[in-house]
Amino acid sequence: MAETIVIIGAGQAGIQAVESLRKEGFTGPITMVGDEAYAPYQRPPLSKAYLLGAFERARLFLKADNYYAEAGCELILNTSAKAIHRAERVVELHDGRKLPYDKLLLATGARVRKLKCPGADLPGVHYLKTIADVDGLQAVFQAGKRIAIVGGGYIGLEVAAVGAKRGLDVTVFEAMDRLMARAVSPVLSDFYAHEHEKAGVKLKLNTGVEAFEGNGKVERVIAGGKSYDADIVLVGIGVVPCDELAVGCGLASTDGIVVDQNARTGDPHIWSAGDCTRHVGREGHEIRLECVQNAIDQAKHAALSMADKHKTYSEVPWFWSDQYDLKLQIAGLARPTDTLVLRGDPAARKFAVFHLRDGAVAAVEAVNAAPEYMIGKKLVAEGKKITAETLADTSIPMKQMA
Ligand code: NAI
Repeated sequence: MAETIVIIGAGQAGIQAVESLRKEGFTGPITMVGDEAYAPYQRPPLSKAYLLGAFERARLFLKADNYYAEAGCELILNTSAKAIHRAERVVELHDGRKLPYDKLLLATGARVRKLKCPGADLPGVHYLKTIADVDGLQAVFQAGKRIAIVGGGYIGLEVAAVGAKRGLDVTVFEAMDRLMARAVSPVLSDFYAHEHEKAGVKLKLNTGVEAFEGNGKVERVIAGGKSYDADIVLVGIGVVPCDELAVGCGLASTDGIVVDQNARTGDPHIWSAGDCTRHVGREGHEIRLECVQNAIDQAKHAALSMADKHKTYSEVPWFWSDQYDLKLQIAGLARPTDTLVLRGDPAARKFAVFHLRDGAVAAVEAVNAAPEYMIGKKLVAEGKKITAETLADTSIPMKQMA
């Protein structure tokens, strides 16, 4: 008899696993459970074109409505899983249903980290992770409104760029001394700070938020000992992995469900993929990646492994961000000890920063520089050794470096 696969989490990793399982010839029943009202959709446009109003909701969905029936995938939405009973191999849902499985994939993703300060629960304090979040924000995201953004990371800055474009009065409060400190090198932090200021965004670095105040709704942000008037607050201070189900049934999780390079957990019947996982990356260190690339590639490897075709996951991680007319593309994982090589001129709004480690290209951050990113990614994958002088020399085309 064909095996039954249950997937918990109807996001990018979940749907990729369905598609890959069918591609690998798995013919048994698949059930996918999601706690949102929507079938799997792309999240990247949410903080960019969708918030701007330039991207229709229908285009967010990763598959057409008829895909699920045709793929033999039962989609259970608006429902969350309550527990995994590993001995019986059953997933128990909050509505009481019990789903038996032979193989289980946890693709539960991550949830927003909540700010815990006085007034954090006031109406008018928003987060951005789901379609519903953006629709809620959209209603008040209007020209002339004062928006206070807490967190100068990807979410905060993408929303700042859209807000400035739509005529809002934008202030960003960032706890660290530079923007996107988790994700990019200082050259890029400075470049993006300049671009945001040019667009009229006010940046408050080294400034944590102490409280929100208001009468029945948020009206003021107290930060760095000062008070700032605000009509809306948007908090983007990172995410935490959704690992409660895994922990609840005794699977290992250390800020991410621990999986091997085939996306397997310690239970031979359970796999996990996407933002909720921690794995040993291609450089031999444990990492938790928060990106679409990892959701897709790790889910593909999970599907291969579930179909008994194992392939080691060692893809180069990549990330991107759109702010104004600037396309930021990053490949590889930087380390503070890397040697940085600037190629091109930030003033020309087209440049790249290469990271050399033991003489080899370990990561690249490219702004409006597609060849640097595309070829840079290949150089990272190959661990290619190139001198800093050669990389910095813009008279040598990138394709000659490959
Ligand atoms: P993030 O980790 O990129 O940025 C959070 C920022 O908030 C950091 O700069 C941090 O220093 C700051 N912060 C933390 N606590 C703070 C506090 N109390 N006060 C002020 N600042 C504080 O996380 P973000 O932007 O929330 O994004 C969430 C998730 O969405 C991440 O997984 C991210 O990778 C993903 N995402 C990715 C995008 C992309 O790749 N283009 C776009 C949007 C989101």
